[in-house]
Amino acid sequence: MTAEIIDIRTDRNDALDQACAVLSRGFPVAIPTETVYGLAADATNPSAITRIYETKGRPRFNPLICHMADVAMAERYASFDPISRRLAEAFWPGPLTLILPLIPKSGIHPLATAGLDTVGIRLPFGFAADLIRSFGKPLAAPSANTSGKVSPTSAGHVAGDLGSKLKLILDGGASSVGVESTIIRVEGETVRLLRPGGVAAEEIEALIGRAVVRPEGPAAIIEAPGMLASHYAPSAAVRLNATHVAPGEALIRLGSDPIEGIEQAKAVFDLSPSGDLAEAAANLFDYLKKADAVGATRIAVTAIPDTGLGEAINDRLVRAAAPRE
Ligand code: TXA
Ligand code: MG
Repeated sequence: MTAEIIDIRTDRNDALDQACAVLSRGFPVAIPTETVYGLAADATNPSAITRIYETKGRPRFNPLICHMADVAMAERYASFDPISRRLAEAFWPGPLTLILPLIPKSGIHPLATAGLDTVGIRLPFGFAADLIRSFGKPLAAPSANTSGKVSPTSAGHVAGDLGSKLKLILDGGASSVGVESTIIRVEGETVRLLRPGGVAAEEIEALIGRAVVRPEGPAAIIEAPGMLASHYAPSAAVRLNATHVAPGEALIRLGSDPIEGIEQAKAVFDLSPSGDLAEAAANLFDYLKKADAVGATRIAVTAIPDTGLGEAINDRLVRAAAPRE
């Protein structure tokens, strides 16, 4: 099987019709979202969800985010505390996932939540929201990559990784945010950041008027099982906080500071020449894949500020550099 690719920018209605047809038959469809491409399937259909796990080679204890068309749809499946509701009002549609108590028997299949009594919910922008509205049911969608690999930010990335396993890939061009959603869990008065992502933690803190609690090592891994240490891994080793380039290395940099040995780099990728972290996030996964493809022994990455979207970028880079199992 080779996936059919439909461009939503030129054939939007055809894309919606074909995607709904494939989803109704219980198969996953790769779809563009503002964060990364998702491997979407009917969140109420156990065989459809099973196909997501099989296609990605994903462990089944790792729950999926359920994507909704609007808040009214989300309220049918999850209960909102007041702080989560404020976050939803401020950041939806957009790159924020809220972990909320699942309403029992509401229809989300336990395979999607890995049997937990909570559900991760996100309202995406644009085409993805329109597709969910047309389909009429929530779509469970992890990132559309083989488990443990770099997440896809273009239809080409998805085709290169999973094209032989899928029926349909929808092409919406490059994902505008480029890193996955920020995952938040509110527990009483405590607002916990389970995964830094496309909404900067500082923006959330400014809205709620207090600090979010950041993950502390292994606890975070149990809380969000997808956050395994060695994740987002290219084939080449990754070396962080590089201040020079060694022979055989590819370089990923931010800004234009001079770097020793840059002339011997196998290739140089600049995440953002002006040092803009949103631009850097949008380019991150594409450049990791491109740096991997030049046959470098290792990918050296210069230090990235840990503020704003830099926190999500550094989270993904640390995982990409983590020792492999
Ligand atoms: O931007 C995104 O979030 C993308 C797009 C496609 O929406 N999706 C995405 O999904 O990144 P995935 O499966 O790659 O990451 C979902 C993360 C995993 O780390 C999972 O463990 C966590 O969300 N998660 C999902 N449901 C959870 C729950 N009920 N409790 C705790 N963590 C949960
Ligand atoms: Mg993922």
